[in-house]
Amino acid sequence: DIDAKVYELLSKMTLEEKVGQMTQITVTIFEDPSKPGYFDAAKLKQGIQDYHIGSILNVPNPGAPTLKRWQETLTAISNEANKSRLKIPVLYGIDAIHGASYTAGATLFPQQIGLAATFNTNLVKRGAEISAYETRASSIPWVFSPDLDFPRNPAWSRMWESFGEDAYLSSQMAVALVNGFEGNNNVGSKYSVASCMKHYIGYGSTTTGKDRTPSIIPERLLRQYDLTIYQAAIKAGAKSVMISSGEINGTPVHASKHLITDILKKELGFKGVVVTDWKDIIYLNTRHKVAETKRDAVRIAVMAGIDMSMVPEEFSFYTDLVNLVQSGEVPMSRIDDAVTRILRMKFELNLFQNTVADLKDYPKFGSAEHIQEAYNTAAESITLLKNKEAVLPLNKTEKILVTGATANSMKYLNGGWSYNWQGENSDTYAADKSTILEAFQNKLGKENVLYTAGADLEKENDVEIQKAVDLAKDASKIVLCLGEKNYTETPGDISNLYMSPSQIKLALALSKLNKPIILVLNEGRPRLISDFEDKMSAVVQCYLPGNEGGRALVDILYGDVNPSGRLPYNYPRYPNSLEKYNRKYTESISEGEQNNDATYEKSYLPQFEFGTGLSYTTFSYSNLKIDKTEINNTDEINVSVDVTNSGKRAGKESVLLYLSDNFASITPEFKSLKRFEKISLEPNETKTIKFTLNQKDLQFVNEDLKWIAEKGTFTIQIANQKKDFLLR
Ligand code: IFM
Repeated sequence: DIDAKVYELLSKMTLEEKVGQMTQITVTIFEDPSKPGYFDAAKLKQGIQDYHIGSILNVPNPGAPTLKRWQETLTAISNEANKSRLKIPVLYGIDAIHGASYTAGATLFPQQIGLAATFNTNLVKRGAEISAYETRASSIPWVFSPDLDFPRNPAWSRMWESFGEDAYLSSQMAVALVNGFEGNNNVGSKYSVASCMKHYIGYGSTTTGKDRTPSIIPERLLRQYDLTIYQAAIKAGAKSVMISSGEINGTPVHASKHLITDILKKELGFKGVVVTDWKDIIYLNTRHKVAETKRDAVRIAVMAGIDMSMVPEEFSFYTDLVNLVQSGEVPMSRIDDAVTRILRMKFELNLFQNTVADLKDYPKFGSAEHIQEAYNTAAESITLLKNKEAVLPLNKTEKILVTGATANSMKYLNGGWSYNWQGENSDTYAADKSTILEAFQNKLGKENVLYTAGADLEKENDVEIQKAVDLAKDASKIVLCLGEKNYTETPGDISNLYMSPSQIKLALALSKLNKPIILVLNEGRPRLISDFEDKMSAVVQCYLPGNEGGRALVDILYGDVNPSGRLPYNYPRYPNSLEKYNRKYTESISEGEQNNDATYEKSYLPQFEFGTGLSYTTFSYSNLKIDKTEINNTDEINVSVDVTNSGKRAGKESVLLYLSDNFASITPEFKSLKRFEKISLEPNETKTIKFTLNQKDLQFVNEDLKWIAEKGTFTIQIANQKKDFLLR
């Protein structure tokens, strides 16, 4: 079995070979980005033969190699590894986070925030299977996905890489992605890839929302929310984890034995590989300043529980770690633990047999079938937030002005980690895909769509705005596409959550015409729109819907597809009002406090609440039943509700079950999501949806960091239906 094989191989390895396995370098060390197909063979040889490197990551810039080119790269690496003493295959990893997003011609799905908005775990899992298939077709067996971050500040520049603000929704989506990537615990198949949960832990919760700045998170809250997402993904079999570049309460996570070894490895029983983020061991010395030397940074990180160092500068990790073991500062047992994990993953992935893809095995790469799945996912993610006087769906006979900075570029649909790091290359590599404007033109004929950009994302330009206003005079409705530039990580940091002034100006100028405006948002985080939202007739949130997003959006706008996404976060109205939907009672108005005092009302008034998502049909809920009104501390409780499509069109509805613990020794949440299910209903059709809640659903983490349920009443809420029960 695999453990025996790992043990046998480990027992043959020298210290240097072991430490080499723990080293991950970037492909750009031996690839010349400007000369496709060219390798610096001496550098590759040095990495593998002299430093015994275990892993390689990254993409030859400027990005998007063809399948064949990936095959050549991986073949060269594999040939070199086969010349080494023990012939241990090199593990290649990549940020393929919404499809094989670094391979030309791959199918690109919505980014994670959009996946969460589908509330459809089956669809999300199927997408991950396709991503795995196309990534393996690129000869890459390891993806740095899913992102399990739990954003506490919506300004965070990687909000869109997360599943939004709810830990339960995130857990369910995490399980769907892990199972999809890893083929339901069949990671050895040539159609599966190993997943990597990231960024353990607290990375998404910086106080300022700026990337890699400090977080303050009491352990009670880490356990109640963040850790539960990891726990679910680990249970699903996730093979690896990447550590957060940030610090929590003053401790960089890369230096935290408590978080990595004690909690992740021991308490949660995680058996997979723990990899650093980019250069993060060195940063313990140069950025975090908790290590006086680079050598000491290596000691601290490895003793905290790191198994693999991503991008160690000039192999200093290798030389320092060999030296630290020789001097007795790092015990061999720690090295053996790390290398065991790495070798196990290589065996599980079948890399000893199968490192380079045979392209004949992947006829469905970029196929119409895969594209259709990406389209379906985009269509189920796009979220209709407002539809005043049923301004949508549009009628094909109406003259439409399409305008706004995001209307005619693929990069705003794809966002970061698409074809290259910041996603700049989408317009080149997805030139055959439809931007929003092109999707309109394809549906209506080019001559029937009015278009002008109207505003730049950042620069104010009154001439462009005037052009849009002039053109709008000939239109009966305006589709205004606003949003954000493509970004990830620190380049996405902002100091102002409001939509950029140039775009607000365009919205206000157009609104003076008193024509219906359909606001289409293409954004990775909720940029505040309270300055002009009341002047918009409809608001449609697209998130970052991927290559098929333009088509899916336009089909929704014309009613060819009925929207069914739901918002996976509270869309704030004000910069100082960032409450979550599962807020505490003191963040809401409570009865008796309401009075006539408007300031109370403002205490909780998101622009759009978590779970908002309109349809072109209507759904009515009735008959909420629970099988017990009193339970003891071992009972489950069965819940059912009838959902009827009371409108005129077929539609999909996500049925959300919330639970409130009415009194508790730790202030209870107003309500929290405990179950959801997405269903399809024809007009007049009714379905009975059943859920079962268990004791864990009633629990919270108390001051002693224990999960407990306290006696008392709980309220179940599904749409407008409520029922109480008592825990005796
Ligand atoms: O996987 C990423 C991570 O999310 C951010 N830093 C770089 C890693 C590898 O590219």
